[in-house]
Amino acid sequence: MPKRIAIFASGSGSNAENIITYFADNKGFEFPVIVCNNENAFVHTRARRLGVRSVTFKFQQNADWDMPLKLLLSEHIDYVILAGFLLKIPKIILNHFPDRIINIHPALLPKFGGKGMYGDRVHRAVCAAGEAESGITIHYVTDNYDEGDIVFQAKCAVLPTDTPEDIAQKVHALEYEWFPKIIEKIWG
Ligand code: GAR
Repeated sequence: MPKRIAIFASGSGSNAENIITYFADNKGFEFPVIVCNNENAFVHTRARRLGVRSVTFKFQQNADWDMPLKLLLSEHIDYVILAGFLLKIPKIILNHFPDRIINIHPALLPKFGGKGMYGDRVHRAVCAAGEAESGITIHYVTDNYDEGDIVFQAKCAVLPTDTPEDIAQKVHALEYEWFPKIIEKIWG
């Protein structure tokens, strides 16, 4: 039976697209749905192009997670991937998917993680701190931001002349290379 994976994304969705494309010919994984918290996010356009269902929910209070949970259960989802999803995952979801939710963070945790540290904000902070390296962290999700056990990290050099955009580009390249491979490794 193929493993059924739901992808949660909030913005552009380039990782979601990269993962779905990577597994297009792989009978071991199916991606029946993308869950989003923003109806205007570009990930919906990518989903349409890929022929994948994408659904927007409002997630303002705990009860707002009932509908997405129902969707995950009715779609027989085995695993959840956070690919640029910016909200905290509540216990009601974690309890249904123990050790079955992973996140990608665009830096080397535990550095540059926590609430408010996402996307370009992370790259600006890395640049401002004068770091000599950055990278990606793939980790299990808990109900604290960026704190679950680390599955994998990959590094890239940060040059003194690098702008946050340069760092973002290097980090995205690592994400595209490694995120699908790590999914295959741990759940394949
Ligand atoms: C990615 O770089 C991902 O690591 C980051 O958001 C970006 C989403 O890009 N996630 C976080 O910052 C989570 N704290 P994408 O929408 O193009 O995949």
